[in-house]
Amino acid sequence: MPEKEPIGVIGVGWVGLVTAACFAELGHEVYARDIVPEKVEVLRRGEVPIHEPGLPDLVRANSQRLHFTTDIDEVLQNTQLLFCCVDTPPTYSGDADLSRIEAVLDSVGNSDDHALVMKSTVPVGTGRSIRRRSDGLGYVSNPEFLQEGSAVRDFMHPTRVVVGADDDSGEFAERVEALYEPLDAELVRTDVASAEMIKLASNAFLATKISFINEIANVSEDLGADVEEVARGMGLDERIGPKFLQAGVGYGGSCFPKDVQALKQLAGNTGYHFQLLTAVIEVNELQKRRTIGKLQKHLGSLVGRQIALLGVAFKPNTDDVREATSLVLAGRLQGEGAQVRVYDPIASERAREILGDARICDSALAALDGADAVVLVTEWPEFRELDWEGGVKARMRTPLVVDGRNFLDREALRDAGFTYEGVGR
Ligand code: UDX
Repeated sequence: MPEKEPIGVIGVGWVGLVTAACFAELGHEVYARDIVPEKVEVLRRGEVPIHEPGLPDLVRANSQRLHFTTDIDEVLQNTQLLFCCVDTPPTYSGDADLSRIEAVLDSVGNSDDHALVMKSTVPVGTGRSIRRRSDGLGYVSNPEFLQEGSAVRDFMHPTRVVVGADDDSGEFAERVEALYEPLDAELVRTDVASAEMIKLASNAFLATKISFINEIANVSEDLGADVEEVARGMGLDERIGPKFLQAGVGYGGSCFPKDVQALKQLAGNTGYHFQLLTAVIEVNELQKRRTIGKLQKHLGSLVGRQIALLGVAFKPNTDDVREATSLVLAGRLQGEGAQVRVYDPIASERAREILGDARICDSALAALDGADAVVLVTEWPEFRELDWEGGVKARMRTPLVVDGRNFLDREALRDAGFTYEGVGR
């Protein structure tokens, strides 16, 4: 059997670490470089600095094949395919900030023995401009479609593998394709710009589905329909599908808000006004305002009111709080004069850095103590298991529940004397 191609990974954040660990699991030697020495030290000890189910086991099981380093030369000497996994956060204008990618290009140089394999989400046209600048280096676009919380499974069982390359990098593209062969996934081989667009358009479409169902929810509320029933009935149509039709407080996370904004901005830069995406973003914003409106409907002014937020992570099974709806709600509620107390089973520590010690509680019950209302922001299973009828009700000053994910047992809560507000029902 031919020896497996060694893999370089540049940027060992969430995408980089999942990529590194999964390629190691597939039998490749992986040289993964990050510029933060502390992170590299932690990883070398076999510890995983993020909460991602299955990842610690994978890192531990493949420790012999995983080489973490701060030294780019170690990566360049041992590998030719360099998976670029640095983040591309939004700038103030909404464009993607490509400074970390610039720094990678500076450190990698222009050797024609190597190819940059772009996993980071970049604006359409980035590959072309990199090729103009570093015309020796090969370039392959290979966007990731990993969902936090199920990233290892998503990597090992992808819905599709997208490989974009232009003619002069065809040989590198074939080598990238070969890496994914054991996964037996549908392959989309295309040009670089189309691959870049597939990623942005996929995320924008999923965000559109969410904003669409959120608007249906808002209208359903006034017309007496139940959005959960509506989504169930819609989703059975194969052309629509059941996924991403969960109404709620709106989408968050490190990808959707950034990528939708970036695509809108990218279109704007070409002179095209992307009306639909403008609305998708606006609906997502209004959904948070609407959540606060539900509290005000029952409590009137929120000045001095104590509001418990259950869940800080932008969704369950992750400790990621980037662009988390909870943080926006916490800020707005404080702006309304409310006292906010939050609890999250996993993400509390990350939230502490942003919200400060005083607002973080050690348990859901502690956050609910003396609360005038509770807003369920993240659908962690343990929130459903709370003793709502007993311990929770006894602790709260006012039994008001705003269920931002339609996650709790509405009938049981109402029977127990709670005022229950869901989304679109
Ligand atoms: C997303 C994409 O799904 C993934 O393919 C891409 O590579 C990275 O971005 P992720 O950020 O992990 O993944 O989150 P995802 O599971 O897609 O959820 C995004 C947000 O939408 C969350 O805040 C979630 O709560 C919200 N959401 C999702 C809804 O409000 N309703 C839904 O029906 C689905």
